[in-house]
Amino acid sequence: MKRLIDESDIRREVTNVGKKIAHDYRDSQLTILGVLTGSIVFVADLIRAIDLPVRLGVIQASSYRGRTTQPAALTIDTHMLPDIRGRDVLIADDIFDTGRTLDALVKDIRQQEPNSVGSVVLLRKQGRQTVEIEPDYHCFDIPDAFIVGYGLDYNDDYRHLPYIAVMEEQDL
Ligand code: IMP
Ligand code: MG
Repeated sequence: MKRLIDESDIRREVTNVGKKIAHDYRDSQLTILGVLTGSIVFVADLIRAIDLPVRLGVIQASSYRGRTTQPAALTIDTHMLPDIRGRDVLIADDIFDTGRTLDALVKDIRQQEPNSVGSVVLLRKQGRQTVEIEPDYHCFDIPDAFIVGYGLDYNDDYRHLPYIAVMEEQDL
């Protein structure tokens, strides 16, 4: 496994994105919606970098199954969703890969009649997008590789790593 982004760089970029969000949403009723499970480390840091009275909620989306990196059918679980009617929602996810997850989540969230729906991701993988939408905010552009750490998993392992690493052929 090879380190790609270390802790101090993550901290700096998350702080910068948090400041931008705080500025853009200064007159809003902001709810950050973390996408389980991969976003939890990012979201914990992000909400503390936004100097506004934000609310926090979670939604679950899963697309990867078992060992494979091929997407399976996407399922969205809205059971834990707080009341977001009339609020400004920012969906926060770990990584924007094909974009299918974010695209589906935005459509789902719109049905709850929030005032607005935006998105923020930690990582944006290059050259993989299959949908029209782009995240409104992102911290890093990364090459097309399989990433773990800082919430991201491979087979549910490595989420605890405080840095971001690339899985190499021999790790997979
Ligand atoms: P998308 O729907 O293809 O954009 O995939 C988004 C979801 O796939 C993310 O929320 C991650 O859970 C997962 N994912 C995509 N790429 C990676 C990766 O490199 N490492 C770990 N998880 C990934
Ligand atoms: Mg995920």
